[in-house]
Amino acid sequence: MPAQVIPEKTFQGIHVLGRENISPSHKRLEGKIAIVTGGAKGIGEATVRLFARHGAKVVIADVEDTLGAVLANSLASSVTYVHCDVTLEEDIENLIESTISRYGRLDILFNNAGVLGNQSKHKSIVDFDVDEFDRVMRVNVRGTALGIKHAARVMIPRGAGCIISTASVAGVMGGLGPHGYTASKHAIVGLTKNTACELGGYGIRVNCISPFGVATSMLVNAWRSNDEEEEECMRFGTPCEQEIEKMEEFVRGLGNLKGSTLRAKDIAEAALYLASDESKYVSGHNLVVDGGVTISRNCIGL
Ligand SMILES: NC(=O)c1ccc[n+]([C@@H]2O[C@H](COP(=O)([O-])OP(=O)(O)OC[C@H]3O[C@@H](n4cnc5c(N)ncnc54)[C@H](O)[C@@H]3O)[C@@H](O)[C@H]2O)c1
Repeated sequence: MPAQVIPEKTFQGIHVLGRENISPSHKRLEGKIAIVTGGAKGIGEATVRLFARHGAKVVIADVEDTLGAVLANSLASSVTYVHCDVTLEEDIENLIESTISRYGRLDILFNNAGVLGNQSKHKSIVDFDVDEFDRVMRVNVRGTALGIKHAARVMIPRGAGCIISTASVAGVMGGLGPHGYTASKHAIVGLTKNTACELGGYGIRVNCISPFGVATSMLVNAWRSNDEEEEECMRFGTPCEQEIEKMEEFVRGLGNLKGSTLRAKDIAEAALYLASDESKYVSGHNLVVDGGVTISRNCIGL
């Protein structure tokens, strides 16, 4: 029976997947146990929704307690929320341990929590702000490395598991983000390759996803001009429809693939592929979801 799709809607200002009735035989993560860090909003939220719809039991890990709990409560009982600051090793340990005590194992870790860092100030390397750099590296790189470490600890004895991290097109080429962010996303690609080498020996797959611009609060907030109208527009730390549309139009203008808009659900679909058995022989891969932006820069049309 084909899946019945109810059209895309918005949830607190962010585009999310329409509700979809997926027949049991089409559920690609049935019975799997997954953790999504940064799962309270944006790309993480879209992934939580999609993984849950495909039959996974999902643990949302975030520092946005209200958003995370509201999201978990709005979904099935198979979705729970755990407070976890990914920069703190004790929080990551608690996240993994509490998942194991609740479900007995961990099949999928999606290391998705991330910050962009200040986009408007300190743009030039001559104004480099070391504290801001450290903050970005702590969340994006240290957080990802700690996630891989503690997921691997429980996956190795089982000889199976799947780890996915969110990198970025800024981890593929230069000039697509602030210096700290670009360095951090290159580091995630490197960490993915290195840990895929080691953990392949235990049957664990490690991959990352590199999205182009998605109009989440991360991107909208970075370009917010802070005038009163835009402040008014901002609710619960998430951008409103108007701001999302403006940002999507801006990103479309920069894109290579015309007639299409990259949304959080498209990244969630990439994560679903990497988390499912359909990618059973894919490891050490950086799945770039950019409509060809990174391969078409400086293309001379020959
Ligand atoms: N939006 C884009 O254009 C884009 C492009 C490429 C990559 N990414 C990456 O996608 C990932 C998700 O970003 P998004 O666009 O959905 O942004 P977002 O701001 O909407 O979501 C990020 C989530 O991470 C959480 N988070 C931040 N710091 C945390 C911490 N220390 N511990 C736990 N959770 C924390 C936030 O609370 C939030 O829920 C990030 O890694 C980002 O770098 C985003």
